[in-house]
Amino acid sequence: MIPYCNLQASHDSFLEDYFKDLKQLFADCDFIGAGSKKVAAFEAEFAEYMGCKHALGVASGTDALLLPLHALGIGPGDEVIMSTFGFIATADVVVRLGGKPVFVDIDPITFNLVPSLVEAAIPPATKAIIPVHLFGQTCDMDAIMAIARERNLFVVEDVAQACGSAACDGRKLGSIGDFGAFSFYPTKNLGAAGDAGMITTNNDSHAAIIRAYRDHGRTADGTFERIGYNSRLDTIQALYMQYKLRDLDEALLDRVENARLYARLLAQVDSRVVPPAVPDDMTNTFNYYTIRVKCASEPGQANLRDSMQAFLKERGVQTAIYYRQCMHVTPALSFVGCPAGSFPVAEKAADEVLSLPNWPGMSKHQIEKVAAAVVEFLENNPSLGVHH
Ligand SMILES: Cc1ncc(COP(=O)(O)O)c(C=O)c1O
Repeated sequence: MIPYCNLQASHDSFLEDYFKDLKQLFADCDFIGAGSKKVAAFEAEFAEYMGCKHALGVASGTDALLLPLHALGIGPGDEVIMSTFGFIATADVVVRLGGKPVFVDIDPITFNLVPSLVEAAIPPATKAIIPVHLFGQTCDMDAIMAIARERNLFVVEDVAQACGSAACDGRKLGSIGDFGAFSFYPTKNLGAAGDAGMITTNNDSHAAIIRAYRDHGRTADGTFERIGYNSRLDTIQALYMQYKLRDLDEALLDRVENARLYARLLAQVDSRVVPPAVPDDMTNTFNYYTIRVKCASEPGQANLRDSMQAFLKERGVQTAIYYRQCMHVTPALSFVGCPAGSFPVAEKAADEVLSLPNWPGMSKHQIEKVAAAVVEFLENNPSLGVHH
């Protein structure tokens, strides 16, 4: 069996040292940020890695989106632009504050926001844009920042899936917009041993508000000037991620190398499978290695992507589908008022994406086995799907 991801491999090298740290932690009982010195040490290392002035640990990636939006004053009547193809957390934080997500279609190759579509979609009540660096792949931040600055909009980068990725000029994602929002969900590039998240910003006053929000609205002198949240980062997580952060660049290079091997092995397959491009830099760190399996659109015909997934499972290869449904057709977000058919490129992607196993330390043999199963499936089914 080849699992979709392998979390054990991600901590094998430091687990013994971490357990020693835990022993000390349980002696000190220094369990919770924001007061914990150990959490502060991890935040400082993270800020330095990202090239940002502030890194603020929070309880999850969802809160890492919610608190900046709240600090920006997003509320009833405000609109926030994002792509419809992604995880619901990006939209649900806007709704939770009383705002409304404004969905736009995606680029068929990168699955990310298309700046020209963003520009065309901006309604008057728009306050912010959330570019999601989906699957580890960098959005066109120069174009998005230019639009945002011209229209006076804030930019909250959703870096949940792209921790450590960088723009072409080397700037780390999360350091380019007004805020970066990171998830440390265990399967992410920098995964915790549970839930955790981080907010990056260079803005002192926003950082001060968020610092208060994550601790019930408490300011440094102990007063409560705002109603806040309980969203503190646990020391248990911070200590674990401190080790992972030290190994992060190496782990990301491993992910990119795996993608490069997949690309070589899948280069000869027919046009029904479209593997992602592998850049020479860190503009994609492949938190997800996602291929497209081109479907026939005739009604009643089995979805080729689903058939391939079932076949890979029979061959002992676990895969995943992110995302089977766009946000605009998700029942919880139907009030936004975009019926099926509104965003054809994203809807097609939802029918065709398939993420193959990719983790740091995955062996060449394992990748060859996955690729061989993809090739075998296509050879067994020469007439299914869309050939171009
Ligand atoms: C793009 C994106 N945004 C936000 C989140 C939310 O992060 P968390 O699960 O840590 O709350 C995720 C998590 O899967 C995500 O993939």
